[in-house]
Amino acid sequence: MESAGFDPEDFWLLDQARLKDRHKRADARGGFKGDYAQERRELALVCSDRLRLSVGPSYAFEQINAPDSTMDYDQTQMPAAYDAGRGYRPAILAMWLDAIARRLPAEQIDDIVDVGCGTGRYSAALADRFDARVVAVDPSAKMLAEARKKPSRGVRFERAAAESLPLPGASMDLVFGSMVFHHFDDPHRAVREFHRVLRPGGHVCLRAGTTDQLECYAYVPFFPTTRGIILKSLTSRAFIEATFEGAGFRLISHELIDSEAGESWRHYADKVALRADSILAQLPEDDFEAGLAALRRYAAAAPPDGPVIEPVDFFVLRSA
Ligand SMILES: C[S@@+](CC[C@H](N)C(=O)[O-])C[C@H]1O[C@@H](n2cnc3c(N)ncnc32)[C@H](O)[C@@H]1O
Repeated sequence: MESAGFDPEDFWLLDQARLKDRHKRADARGGFKGDYAQERRELALVCSDRLRLSVGPSYAFEQINAPDSTMDYDQTQMPAAYDAGRGYRPAILAMWLDAIARRLPAEQIDDIVDVGCGTGRYSAALADRFDARVVAVDPSAKMLAEARKKPSRGVRFERAAAESLPLPGASMDLVFGSMVFHHFDDPHRAVREFHRVLRPGGHVCLRAGTTDQLECYAYVPFFPTTRGIILKSLTSRAFIEATFEGAGFRLISHELIDSEAGESWRHYADKVALRADSILAQLPEDDFEAGLAALRRYAAAAPPDGPVIEPVDFFVLRSA
């Protein structure tokens, strides 16, 4: 849904102007101590307003939609590239485990299902952190094969989809899902399954990308055609909350948590180049190559220090 009035080059110019300004301020103070995340948010606001103006009110910021992003990871190159393309430093994983633990009664968490565990980015870490048993499920044999290569004390892997969990009713204390909600073939059925397998009062923790944050995702300005793919593939925050509430859950909290997507713009560009992302995987080859070239140009001009930050929607829900 690219519009005639919108020029993606604006992002580049805006960012350049901001970078120059940031350098000036940093020199004046003897080193940059700014808030990168805040900078991106401000920039995104300016850019999303422009986009809203140029596309009109039908632009789906308030969209309540079901996702259309079913993807068989076994038919892609993503499993082998996933950890290099999407992994993060131990400090970032620790930050996420803290965020998860902060919202839960940790002493009551003995059994966890990591739904759509992929290469197990969280599975063993959750088992360690909560001293719990983890059942890590994913429909992709290749993603599970990558996960099984890692030390995974306390983790049992199962090949299954969220819509049909191989677990008895009332057997889990926590359903954890990271970057998977938009892949469910039938989100309503998946969420009913979560309710079935949870013990009374059990929790769901969900990390997700949403259409609401579209303009804050770091690669979007460089790959403008991802906008249409994101709008079709991800869901809105409202849709996620409504789906859970309709299946007997109560929303405990929703936060936007700033997370590091790359240690620097150069590091980020190297990760993006691996294309271990279901949105980038859907781009036509030419769009991907052009976007990567623009991102690399930007990364070459950006200061080498300072992480690339993106907001992640983080939901905690309780089975009512
Ligand atoms: C972006 S990866 C996320 C992996 C992992 N949770 C993480 O954060 O690193 C999405 C995963 O969802 C899995 N997936 C796709 N459809 C699914 C479904 N219906 N139920 C459960 N998982 C699914 C994919 O196979 C893939 O491994």
